[in-house]
Amino acid sequence: MNLKAVVAATPDAIQRVFAVRAAVFMSEQDCPYDEEFDGNDFCATHILGLANDEPAAVLRVRFFAEFAKLERLAVLPRFRRTLISKMVVDAGIEIARRKGYRALYGHAQKRLARFWSRFGFQPLKKNFKLVYSDHEYIEMAAYIEPHEGPITMMSDPYIIVRPEGDWDSLGALDRSAARPATNPH
Ligand SMILES: CC(C)(COP(=O)(O)OP(=O)(O)OC[C@H]1O[C@@H](n2cnc3c(N)ncnc32)[C@H](O)[C@@H]1OP(=O)(O)O)[C@@H](O)C(=O)NCCC(=O)NCCS
Repeated sequence: MNLKAVVAATPDAIQRVFAVRAAVFMSEQDCPYDEEFDGNDFCATHILGLANDEPAAVLRVRFFAEFAKLERLAVLPRFRRTLISKMVVDAGIEIARRKGYRALYGHAQKRLARFWSRFGFQPLKKNFKLVYSDHEYIEMAAYIEPHEGPITMMSDPYIIVRPEGDWDSLGALDRSAARPATNPH
């Protein structure tokens, strides 16, 4: 199986993300619609895991000043126990690292603490009882190595405007620089 993780960068890719989320959380885990689609989907980066180009896994990443929050990890049942879960999580972590984040945060369903520990997450010792959407969660955090070339305000401005996660390839705006600045007339 050809597995890969990409940023969902178009409305069509976002539709694929939502289809996986609806199947896993609303159908399999009986999550109510308003709790699953919680108003945070349009201030987030979505990672889409593909298996032979079929939507297989998703992860949502939201960015705060001090940390990036990994959430809404889901793998369709038929693609579980493949490496696709690791690929989407690694992709989310790498995006956060490139953006300069050193701290990651998440709410792990209790039974998945071991899964998240594989990525360096440890329980946060806040002793906060966290229950929502019919699950009990533990707060976890991971501290990640700094990226060797993080994106900062001093980075090449064309890099800063490239598509999320695809900062090392020329983007449409790089190519547009070949046209002269003719606007406004
Ligand atoms: C939780 C969930 C995403 C895990 O996905 P999964 O495919 O079942 O993950 P697995 O733990 O089986 O991992 C798949 C394989 O990748 C490997 N793997 C995963 N993360 C890894 C890591 N960081 N490093 C090395 N290997 C890793 C595992 O070893 C496993 O292989 P194994 O079967 O030989 O142990 C999936 O079960 C799911 O979608 N559940 C429902 C939704 C849900 O509860 N989401 C969580 C919200 S907090």
